[in-house]
Amino acid sequence: MTQDELKKAVGWAALNYVERGTIVGVGTGSTAAHFIDALGSIKNEIEGAVSSSEASTLRLKSLGIPVFDLNEVDSLSVYVDGADEINSAMQMIKGGGAALTREKIIAAVAKKFVCIADESKQVDVLGKFPLPVEVIPMARSFVARELVKLGGLPEYRQQVVTDNGNVILDVHNLKILDAVALEKAINALPGVVTVGLFATRGADVALIGTANGVKTLGD
Ligand code: A5P
Repeated sequence: MTQDELKKAVGWAALNYVERGTIVGVGTGSTAAHFIDALGSIKNEIEGAVSSSEASTLRLKSLGIPVFDLNEVDSLSVYVDGADEINSAMQMIKGGGAALTREKIIAAVAKKFVCIADESKQVDVLGKFPLPVEVIPMARSFVARELVKLGGLPEYRQQVVTDNGNVILDVHNLKILDAVALEKAINALPGVVTVGLFATRGADVALIGTANGVKTLGD
């Protein structure tokens, strides 16, 4: 099976976690895109979606799925999204697609976070994938120096402006043994909007696409 077929399998498997008649939290990326396609097949059974990026919003709307502003929504039963890395504690690195801030906000609102990923995303220790950090533009150099003090090698993601008008630093060379502590330390730096570590609020369920089918963790 190709990697895209594994992503498609988990995207469709996530439909089992969608409560009919509700508004669904929707992530960003190539795996989430399969989930959006799957949602399209039950669009008459849901009220709509809250989206984590302009790209996902476009895809949802193109399928005729109503997209709500998060401020109009009191609660979400589920948020479905991909990950760049996930460990056995269900902690993740996210933000490869630069949508980490909106993803983290919607994940915080949702009762259940369902992570959908192909098996290449499973790791023992987080950090091989460079950790994305969204930063206010004027703070970029300061935050980069502080990230070096934390042991990382930050790299400015050229030509990328987030949906919120900010920039991204990708931090290489990290071996993240205490993800909650690192998430808090980076969050505390002035100028940081969001760090792509989803450790304090990790996934509740992970659907992992493997050659032998979809494996469910945490349910
Ligand atoms: C988007 O900002 C990311 O958090 C994505 O969830 C992550 O990059 C996974 O993307 P793919 O599903 O495209 O691998």
